[in-house]
Amino acid sequence: MQLVKERKAADAIVLPFWEGKKQAEKATSFSEADDIAHMPIAAGDFKGKEGEVMVLYGPKLKEEKRVLLVGLGLKEKSTLETFRKSYAAVVKAALGKKFKTLNIVMPNVKGVASGICEGLLLANYCFDKMKKEPGALLSKVAFIGIDAKEFTECKKLETLIESVNFARDLVNSNADEVTPQRLSECAELLAKEFPKVTATVFGKKEIEKHKMGLLSAVSRGAARDPAFIIIEYKGNPSSKEKTALVGKGITYDTGGLNLKVNVGIETMKCDMAGAAAVMGTVRAAAALGLKVNVVGVIPTTENAIGPHSYKPGDVYISYLGKSVEIADTDAEGRLVLADALAYTEKNLKPTQIIDLATLTGSVVIALGEEIAGLYSADEKMVKGLIEASNQTHERVWPLPIAPEYREKLKSSIADMKNVGGRKGGSIIAALFLQDFVQNTPWAHIDIAGTAYLSDTKPYHPTHATGFGVRLLIAYLEKNGK
Ligand code: BES
Ligand code: ZN
Ligand code: ZN
Repeated sequence: MQLVKERKAADAIVLPFWEGKKQAEKATSFSEADDIAHMPIAAGDFKGKEGEVMVLYGPKLKEEKRVLLVGLGLKEKSTLETFRKSYAAVVKAALGKKFKTLNIVMPNVKGVASGICEGLLLANYCFDKMKKEPGALLSKVAFIGIDAKEFTECKKLETLIESVNFARDLVNSNADEVTPQRLSECAELLAKEFPKVTATVFGKKEIEKHKMGLLSAVSRGAARDPAFIIIEYKGNPSSKEKTALVGKGITYDTGGLNLKVNVGIETMKCDMAGAAAVMGTVRAAAALGLKVNVVGVIPTTENAIGPHSYKPGDVYISYLGKSVEIADTDAEGRLVLADALAYTEKNLKPTQIIDLATLTGSVVIALGEEIAGLYSADEKMVKGLIEASNQTHERVWPLPIAPEYREKLKSSIADMKNVGGRKGGSIIAALFLQDFVQNTPWAHIDIAGTAYLSDTKPYHPTHATGFGVRLLIAYLEKNGK
């Protein structure tokens, strides 16, 4: 979508209104707004509630064929999220009428352009490549009355949200298309596109040579080889700081021999959403030219079922040397992450590590589809991630890595087992991962609920959200230097 400042011919002009005490009140200094909206406001048909949108015809305007009134709710209660949601509602209404171009009259409040822009850009997405008819999208938006600084911010957001959509596309595409090999290619293409990005890919043999025994085990049932992807962006070579982002890259999670029966298998192409968010974040950092050093690490394989599948009851040796009894082949994410975390710490020597993973069903039960579970013993990382979460509204909530549950991972035949019962399942998964990071500040974000939606949200359609890209970029901008 093209973002401009000039008011030229468009399908509609968009005028913002607060929900006033008695009736809607204009939220702009656009002189014609009162006259245009007088009738629906006086009749009580347009109240200015958050996300309320009304299409009007009639008034003769210089450049536009119609008017869209948009409600922003109560002024004193408004936040950036209000603007994201309200302008996402504008996009929905506009797309419903097949509009292509909008002239948006900026509200006369400071500091809200980023919310407006994010709402517009995030809502202007559809995954239509498997459909005969292409989906409707806006092609151009003009911001009338925006100041130069705000406009620059919007351009930055456009770059950022291209990477959110890159992550969304990877997750939404078929599991048989987005294979470990395809993810590897993506990393290599990014290295070609951005001079400060390099990509290294280990195939099956190298994974075995490096003794990543857990990643190898999970991959045994798959028709395609696993891969271990390292994608690095050096945006600040003179700094010693380096953030490692580790993303779970299970391209499809059947559950393995502990096959997912009854519920849930049909959404399991989403099980590489952590990998997609990591790749999207590295892409965004490079495209924005952030002055940070980031290394993305992606252990990727399908968790398939077949004659060579790894077996419940068997024991495998991890990269770190600890042996793990496979009590459930469906708890595969923590296995591939364990090898990736240990490899990352030892060989890439980052100053902090954040992993993102669609790791447990229990976090979905605990926090739903709005909020991801955040686990970290490092106060500074927790604070930084919560700040980034408040800024972007990619919500995270701290959960405890409760040592009381550690004994549930005890095994009689190995150093540990990979599951510890259903109770506190997301905490137990975090405890498992914790054993594979020794000395580096580390945070784990369980995005099983937020990565892939069953219901639409104001600025996300169902399916992939690209959750994590905006959060991590906001975090890196403040904590990655
Ligand atoms: N990929 C799933 C977790 C998941 C669930 C992601 C729902 C997205 C939505 C993970 O590999 C898994 O199967 N976890 C099991 C672990 C259990 C066997 C201990 C779970 O949470 O049920
Ligand atoms: Zn699983
Ligand atoms: Zn999984």
